[in-house]
Amino acid sequence: MKKALAATAVLVFAAGLCLRLQAQGAAALASPAGQLDYDVFKTKIQPIFLTPRPANGNARCVACHARGAGAYLEPLPPGAATWTEDQSRRNFDRVARLVVPGEPLKSILLTNPLATDAGGSPWHEGGKHWISQTDPEWQTLKAWVSTKPTAPATSSTTTAAGPRLNYETFKAKIQPIFLVTRAANGNARCAACHARGAGAYLEPLPPGAAMWTEDQSRRNFDRVSRLVVPGEPLKSILLTNPLATEAGGSAWHEGGKHWMSQDDPEWQTLASWVRGS
Ligand code: HEC
Ligand code: HEC
Repeated sequence: MKKALAATAVLVFAAGLCLRLQAQGAAALASPAGQLDYDVFKTKIQPIFLTPRPANGNARCVACHARGAGAYLEPLPPGAATWTEDQSRRNFDRVARLVVPGEPLKSILLTNPLATDAGGSPWHEGGKHWISQTDPEWQTLKAWVSTKPTAPATSSTTTAAGPRLNYETFKAKIQPIFLVTRAANGNARCAACHARGAGAYLEPLPPGAAMWTEDQSRRNFDRVSRLVVPGEPLKSILLTNPLATEAGGSAWHEGGKHWMSQDDPEWQTLASWVRGS
């Protein structure tokens, strides 16, 4: 009986994994990942995340970005100098969400570690790693983001014509979901985990405040938008990660499963936002 249970668990897990992989494959065309070169990522971009940086007193990217909520890199296998093929694929999917194909200076992956006076973002808690756009690493990243190898002619038109995400809906209906306390299923609220650390997609609430400011809401909107595929709720990690696996959710979410079915009113609210309402 125990064995049978264990076998069922493995099957359920495997099925969830297949679904997840399938969903990722299908999403590839609609998302930035579909327009970026995986082999270049693996051979030229990943090593940048692993390079030690004693000269400017910074840690390597992987030291901060391979753990915690919203990490975009996998932890290196014990003793290994680089990632496995499977891990590289997952890194690729996540890192692709941090760039805008064809737009290096709109890609947070390239602007966050770039000095502010060289065109970088105002602030990166992990430090400024490139003092100019002529830095060879920055140039390598730029070349990767600029190439659009196999993008089918339709993909950009689909994106342009697809549903747009509505900021007012986000502010009025989506943000409150991140703040709801979830005693019933033993989970913490999303903001408890996703408002701090490397790759947090929510701002910390101002001390004593029950809601984010207008400026913060705009920044939340920009970051949360990268976690969805407009028009495709079931390809949007924001909707699949906290959804029960057997209800179409992802195989695993360290922060727990918050919605048992797609009928959950919160899930429905998120789905209609992703569809453009
Ligand atoms: C010492 C830790 C540390 C190091 C080293 C570090 N970062 Fe960060 N990084 C952070 C933290 C913390 C944040 C979130 C707060 C912020 O945006 O400053 C962040 C944010 C980011 C973001 C935005 C992520 C998002 O989802 O919005 C990107 C992209 C990024 N870092 C890229 C890099 C790259 C590339 C490197 C290496 C060249 C690097 N970081 C090195 C700590 C680090
Ligand atoms: C107890 C902490 C915790 C809570 C609460 C939590 N999460 Fe997470 N979440 C994590 C961790 C850790 C990860 C990264 C590992 C993983 O994917 O499981 C993550 C990953 C994610 C990701 C993928 C992020 C990315 O960039 O790939 C999304 C989206 C997400 N969570 C959404 C949510 C939402 C929505 C809620 C609330 C309904 C929530 N989480 C509640 C800890 C939490």
